[in-house]
Amino acid sequence: MKVLLTGSAGFVGSHLTERLLQGGHRVTGVDNYISGQHRNTELFLDHPNFSFIEADVSRGIPVPTGKADKFDWVLHFASPASPPHYQQNQIETLMVGAQGTQNALELARSQGASFMLASTSEVYGDPHVHPQPESYWGHVNPNGLRSCYDEAKRYAEAITFAYQRTHGLDTRVIRIFNTYGPRMRADDGRVVTNLVHQALRGEALTVYGDGSQTRSFQYVSDLVEGVLRLMDVSSLGSDLHGPVNLGNPDEYSILEFATVIRELLGEGLKIEFRPLPQDDPMQRRPDITRARALLGWQPGVPLREGLRRMIGDLQAPPGLREQPSLREQPSLQEKGRGTRIAAGAD
Ligand SMILES: NC(=O)c1ccc[n+]([C@@H]2O[C@H](COP(=O)([O-])OP(=O)(O)OC[C@H]3O[C@@H](n4cnc5c(N)ncnc54)[C@H](O)[C@@H]3O)[C@@H](O)[C@H]2O)c1
Repeated sequence: MKVLLTGSAGFVGSHLTERLLQGGHRVTGVDNYISGQHRNTELFLDHPNFSFIEADVSRGIPVPTGKADKFDWVLHFASPASPPHYQQNQIETLMVGAQGTQNALELARSQGASFMLASTSEVYGDPHVHPQPESYWGHVNPNGLRSCYDEAKRYAEAITFAYQRTHGLDTRVIRIFNTYGPRMRADDGRVVTNLVHQALRGEALTVYGDGSQTRSFQYVSDLVEGVLRLMDVSSLGSDLHGPVNLGNPDEYSILEFATVIRELLGEGLKIEFRPLPQDDPMQRRPDITRARALLGWQPGVPLREGLRRMIGDLQAPPGLREQPSLREQPSLQEKGRGTRIAAGAD
């Protein structure tokens, strides 16, 4: 398959590139590095099936045209994703959700490709329904500090559905919950990277509010497995186009999470409490019934195991850090659908 991936230099994009190349697919990455890292492109530049275009997808996606270059899939993952990054780039974040998504949809339409949007659990806002099923419409502040991200993704979902209904485009929408793993930027600003890096530096762990707000944490290989399975499903009619939550339903309060970090990196680490930021959601936990039924998918990497892998990577000597494994793996079809539960192999 030939895949165009926007946001390829990001954290998730780099892992998705790795797995697609392992599957023998050809990947064209597109990124403008607004929140991504050059080294996530450099990891793959020598691979014969990888090519890269530096571009702002909100302005257009300059792919070579012609029959031989047709893509089978356009995966739209470009968007700043962590609160510090999208709050520093509010207009760019709105634009990549709006114009960037339309450009990616138009590309898919012109190439006869299928399209996938990386949406987010942020579309549920500070939810009044718990856990959150895909049928929940959310509770979002339309003009608060997080709105540039939440509303951009809500618009991105709306225009994706409009292209599906108007043009019959083959579309998929995933709603990603909090995901972590190697290759996240140290200044990502979300709780996993904040606390892991503070602990590695021997600093106090910062907890916002009283730490009773909850999150669920998904290891990145589980997310990537879910994405590949959704790309692999093709015969479920309109049910296929509905959003699919991909996240780990194990729920931790932030204080419990800080305790796990202490257990792994030093019981003596202090915890420092700070005021809760505006519109910080109090509860987050995916209802993954739909992903289980549609994809036979569920997360396979428990929190402590995922954190050990991430910390092990951060502690590895510089030359060995974040290195992808690019040996080709059997495709999902070759592995057989009977083994589709228990994702997370990486
Ligand atoms: N990581 C998570 O926990 C999480 C949760 C929910 C949703 N998501 C979604 O998954 C996707 C990837 O997230 P991530 O954590 O890897 O974030 P990231 O910031 O590491 O990666 C996003 C990439 O998109 C690129 N980008 C942004 N705007 C662009 C533009 N206009 N043109 C070209 N490239 C652009 C950035 O430079 C970056 O490389 C995002 O769409 C995000 O909203 C991630």
